[in-house]
Amino acid sequence: MAFGQLPNDRYLLAIESTCDETAAAVLTRDGKILGECIATQEELHEAFAGVVPEIAARAHLERILPVIDFAMKQSGIEPKSLEAIAVATHPGLPGSLLVGLAAAKGLALAWNKPLVGINHVQAHIYACGLGRESSIFPCVGFVVSGGHTTLYRCESATQWHYLGGTIDDAAGECFDKVAVMLGLPFPGGPQLSKLAETGDPTAISFPRPLLDQPTRLEFSFSGLKTAVRYHIGGTGKQDWSTCDLSETQKADVAASFEQSVIDCLVGKSLQAMERTQLRRLCVGGGVAANRRFRTQLETACASRGIELIVAQKELCTDNAVMGALAWERIDQNDFDGLELDVQPGLLRYRDGAVPT
Ligand code: KG4
Ligand code: ZN
Repeated sequence: MAFGQLPNDRYLLAIESTCDETAAAVLTRDGKILGECIATQEELHEAFAGVVPEIAARAHLERILPVIDFAMKQSGIEPKSLEAIAVATHPGLPGSLLVGLAAAKGLALAWNKPLVGINHVQAHIYACGLGRESSIFPCVGFVVSGGHTTLYRCESATQWHYLGGTIDDAAGECFDKVAVMLGLPFPGGPQLSKLAETGDPTAISFPRPLLDQPTRLEFSFSGLKTAVRYHIGGTGKQDWSTCDLSETQKADVAASFEQSVIDCLVGKSLQAMERTQLRRLCVGGGVAANRRFRTQLETACASRGIELIVAQKELCTDNAVMGALAWERIDQNDFDGLELDVQPGLLRYRDGAVPT
């Protein structure tokens, strides 16, 4: 990604704290990253094999100002040169969101800058367009992360219609839970996909829920998760602190499970393209960093003449750079006041996102 500073450019400070990454970035209107900092919390949540909301919020509180300070210093931009301060306000963990918003409000007041609250899910799709010359809209936007597995018809950066999503677990959440069953360290998704590289994806036939129902643009991963659980431990296993499978068996479970998830993700994306008759598919969120998913989706799209844009790997997982979405509102003079609040829920139908 390009670094550097242009005179007379426009500058934005973006803040992200929706889950367990504390992040800030200083961005220009033409897409340059002048400063960026991400503090991860993996070591804090590892013992619990999942993100503990209260621990996440406290860690954000300790880190948010040093992270912002780092990004600002790296950028070399004075606060007075900033045009606005953007912050992800929804969806996310309530305590985590509040810390980012409180920091953004404090700085907006101290530096006399306008605020722009942004939708984290929209930002994940917006990340697909960063560094590209032409607009990615209209497109089908597909967010596959730890909290979402959702398809949208995206007319523009902020005009969205909900097409369908998971009715239970998100894909990333399912990766993380199966990783725990295999005794892999947290965060499980990337570890599981690494183990899967040495396994046989055809070794075990796990279910592909809802894939045979093209009229339903929905996902369901909880049954798949249970199928893996029974495969590993039968119906009687109580102690999940150890996994009794051999390394080869574990790798085969990982690869076969991953292939089931990928088949569902790829299959439903294609069904969404068919339904909308759009020709461009944009994919973001942590699971979009998965190598096999990227490769198989690429092959499927190429053979159907669909233009596929997947966010750059480092922009798939949570980051503040995707807060560049705020420029879309800044350009319309559309700012928020200090009454801006967080909206933690998944909010499937928010922002005009009604099922079509
Ligand atoms: O977008 P993200 O950083 O946070 C949310 O907004 O949820 O996504 C995190 C999720 C986690 O569940 C993580 O295990 C998963 O993305 N993930 C992966 C991979 N990298 C991250 N899942 C499968 N394969 C990967 N390579
Ligand atoms: Zn995210």
